[in-house]
Amino acid sequence: MAKSGSQLRLAVLGAGKMGGILVEGFVKQGLASPQNIRATVQHAGQQRKRLAGCSVGANNRAAVRHADVVLLCVKPQTVGQVLDEIRPELDKNKLLISIAASVPTDYIERRLGGKVPVIRAMPNTPSMVGAGITAISKGKFAQAQDVALAEKLFGAVGKTVVLDEKYMDAVTGLAASGPAFIYIILESLAEGGVKAGLPRELATLLAAQMALGAAKVVIETGDHPALLKDAVTTPAGCTIDGILELEEGGLRVTLIKAVMKAAQRAKELLITSEKS
Ligand SMILES: NC(=O)c1ccc[n+]([C@@H]2O[C@H](COP(=O)([O-])OP(=O)(O)OC[C@H]3O[C@@H](n4cnc5c(N)ncnc54)[C@H](OP(=O)(O)O)[C@@H]3O)[C@@H](O)[C@H]2O)c1
Repeated sequence: MAKSGSQLRLAVLGAGKMGGILVEGFVKQGLASPQNIRATVQHAGQQRKRLAGCSVGANNRAAVRHADVVLLCVKPQTVGQVLDEIRPELDKNKLLISIAASVPTDYIERRLGGKVPVIRAMPNTPSMVGAGITAISKGKFAQAQDVALAEKLFGAVGKTVVLDEKYMDAVTGLAASGPAFIYIILESLAEGGVKAGLPRELATLLAAQMALGAAKVVIETGDHPALLKDAVTTPAGCTIDGILELEEGGLRVTLIKAVMKAAQRAKELLITSEKS
């Protein structure tokens, strides 16, 4: 079984945007000490020698050799190549957690051979402020204690949900791509505020804090968003005029389609890269 706490030895392969966010979160929360984390990137240079106090190199095999848990954070199209490279260093005592979109656990298990425990996780970038959500599902050789360890790791940067792997592409389209959709919505709301006469900075703060508050209400009350919307909408008031514009502009359908398209793309990524 893999160790936990600051004793945990972690290899983070592909410490780019998402991998880097996770490393910083784990170190900040004391889940692993910087000297026990080895991060890798493709182009390790002079200026990229350290990340949150951890060493950054380009030798995946060496990083994995010294690790209890391997966090695979490279792009989906690079996963196969990295798995081939690190295969000799993996065995049933090392947990491999992949955050790559589109790549199923059984693909990883087949590519590795043996009985390496594999977990697939889908975090998102709000993890950088401890407000992420990570979906976790287990492969066929992973045990309950491996899932518990993954929950603990990703729990350091936000909430976690454990679910069946069949939902992972949908989770990717909603929760991993979703922050980009919300940023566009926030930018647009702020533009509305600017059009109504507010200074831009103030408009952006109002939009963001309002969205944070509304999201908190949904999570903390557990009420259906439609009910909460009704409570804001006074008969013949201002909000209903705004809602009418949203409905005419097709906001609902647009958002539904955005999530569906992103989820569909998540299904295709690995297939596309295997063909090329
Ligand atoms: N960004 C998100 O919101 C998000 C959310 C959930 C999951 N993910 C998943 O996270 C993964 C990475 O996404 P990202 O947005 O973080 O991309 P990214 O910033 O491009 O990070 C990828 C990293 O992989 C490194 N790399 C490439 N080939 C490598 C190799 N052979 N060995 C070791 N490292 C290698 C790159 O090194 P260089 O910097 O030297 O090129 C880069 O640092 C993807 O699979 C994605 O599906 C991303």
